Amino acid sequence: LDDVLSMLDAWDLVVVSNRQPYRHTYDADGEIAVDRPAGGLTAGLDPVVQETDGTWVAWGDGDADREASDDANSVRVPPEDPAYTLKRVWLSESDVADYYYGFSNRVLWPLCHSLEEKITFEDRHWERYREVNRKFADSVVDTIESNTVDTDSSVERADSDAIAETVEGDTVVWFQDYHFGLAPRFVRESIGDEALLSQFWHIPWPEREVFRDCPHGAELLRGLLANDLLGFHIPAYCANFLDCVSTMLPEAAADWEDWTVSLADAEHTTRLRAFPMGVDTDRIAEHAAAPEEGFWERFRADYGIPDDQQVAVGIDRLDYTKGIPERLAAIEHLLEAHPNWRGEFTYIQKATPSRTEIPEYRELGRRVDRGIERINERFGTDEWQPVIEIDDYLSEEALYGLCRYSDLAIVSSLADGMNLVALEYVSAQIDRTGVLLLSERAGADELLGDAAVSIDPTDTETFASRLDLALSMPDEERRRRMTALRSVVSETNIQSWMADVFEATLTLDQAADTTTDV
Ligand code: G6P
Repeated sequence: LDDVLSMLDAWDLVVVSNRQPYRHTYDADGEIAVDRPAGGLTAGLDPVVQETDGTWVAWGDGDADREASDDANSVRVPPEDPAYTLKRVWLSESDVADYYYGFSNRVLWPLCHSLEEKITFEDRHWERYREVNRKFADSVVDTIESNTVDTDSSVERADSDAIAETVEGDTVVWFQDYHFGLAPRFVRESIGDEALLSQFWHIPWPEREVFRDCPHGAELLRGLLANDLLGFHIPAYCANFLDCVSTMLPEAAADWEDWTVSLADAEHTTRLRAFPMGVDTDRIAEHAAAPEEGFWERFRADYGIPDDQQVAVGIDRLDYTKGIPERLAAIEHLLEAHPNWRGEFTYIQKATPSRTEIPEYRELGRRVDRGIERINERFGTDEWQPVIEIDDYLSEEALYGLCRYSDLAIVSSLADGMNLVALEYVSAQIDRTGVLLLSERAGADELLGDAAVSIDPTDTETFASRLDLALSMPDEERRRRMTALRSVVSETNIQSWMADVFEATLTLDQAADTTTDV
C-alpha cells in the first residue's frame, strides 16, 4: 500500500464506480447508520482514497443517503474519522431501470460474457445509459475543476503559464467497470488534457464476432478510447478489444505491438494493459484463522453434515454467468455414474440473490432450486442430504472459515472476467488441504494455471470425472497444488494490483511530458 500511496503523492485521485463505498441507511430508531464496504475492490481501494484525501463518485441511493449529503451531494467518509469526499450522483427510478438494469445489465453484461441469447435491448436503455454517464461525467468535471481552483490559489503570483503547467495532469480519474462506457469521453470533451483518465473493465471483453452485435458498439469504443489507460484482467480481453477497434472504427490507428490506439481527432493515445486482479490475501487469511475451536464441528452439526464426509462448496452471486445449473448437473452425473460417492460428500451452495428485477435472474433462481431438489430427491437418504443450500447470512469469519475447512471449491463460470471467489478460497486455505475446481472460462484460470483442476462447465461427463478425481485426490497432491496456488495468489494480491494499475497510469508518456517541469 505504501508504494501506491507514494506514487499518488502529487495527485488528486478521483474514483468513479456505480456502487458506493459507504451507504447511509436508517436504523430501527430512525437514526442514520452507515453500511461498511463489503470485500473486494471497495475494501481494497477505500484505504487508498482515505490516505490521499481523494474523491469517490458513485450512485447515491435512498433517503438516508440524501439526508447525510450536503448541498453539493457530498459527504465526508468514513463517518468516525472523515478522510475523503464521497460524492453522490442521484438516479431516478427510470435511470435505474434503463441505465442499471437496462443497458448495463441486460445488454453489456450478457454481451461481454458472450451470452447473447440473454440480451434484451430497447432504445430507451441506451438513451438513459448515455444520460447517466453524462451525469457522472459532470460530477467528475466539477471535481477536477475544484481541484484546479485549489491548485491555482496555492500558486501565488505565478504567471499564467506556470499555473497551466502545474494544473495539467494533477488529477487522475479512475473509472470502474462497464457502467461507464461513455463517461470518459464526456469528461475528456470538457477538460481536454487537464487530467489523466484510466479505466478498469472488470468483466471480459468478447470476441469481435460477438461485440459487433452490440447496439451502439462503435460509440462505446470511442467512449472508452477517451481514456489514457484501459485495463482488463487478462491479455485475451485486450486483444479482443483491439480487434474490435481495428474492425469497427475506421478512424482508429491500432498498434498491435505496443497495444495502443489513437483516434484520428484525439491528442492522446490509449494504452491497453492486462492487470490480473487479486484479493486481500492477508485479511482473508486472518478471518479464516479467526473462528474458535469447534467452529467446523458446530457448522457441520448445524447443517446436518455427517463427520466422516468430505464437503464441497460453491459461493456465488446468483448470476447466470456462474454456471450453477451446469455444476449441479455434474454433481448429479457423478452420483449416478460413480455411486461410490453417495453418502460420501456434501455439496454446500451459498448463492446471494442479485439483480432480481431482471427476469433471467429470477428464472435462474428457480432453476437452481429445482436442480437442488431433484438431486436431493433422487439420492438423499434419512442420514444424508447431498446438496445443502445456505440462505443465512454468513459473517466474513464464517464464510472464510467455510472456505478453510471445505475439501473442495467449485467455480464453474460460463464466462468470468477473473472470479475472485477462486482467489478467496485459496487465500482462506491456510491448512492447504483443499482442492480448487476451476472453469477454464474464468480469467482466474489463466492466472492460476494447472495447480487448479480445470473444467469445462458445459461438458457434464468430464466435469463429473474431474469431481471424482478431486474427491479422491491424495493429501500430498492436494498440499502440493494448494501451495502452488497460494504462492500465485499472495503475489498478485489486491495491493499489488492497485500498485501496478497506478504505476502504469501515472508513468504514461503523456503524464511524464506534462509533469516534468512542475
Ligand atoms: C460484478 C461487476 C461489478 C458489480 C458486481 C455486483 O462483479 O463487475 O461491477 O458491482 O458484479 O453486481 P451489482 O449489479 O449488484 O453491482
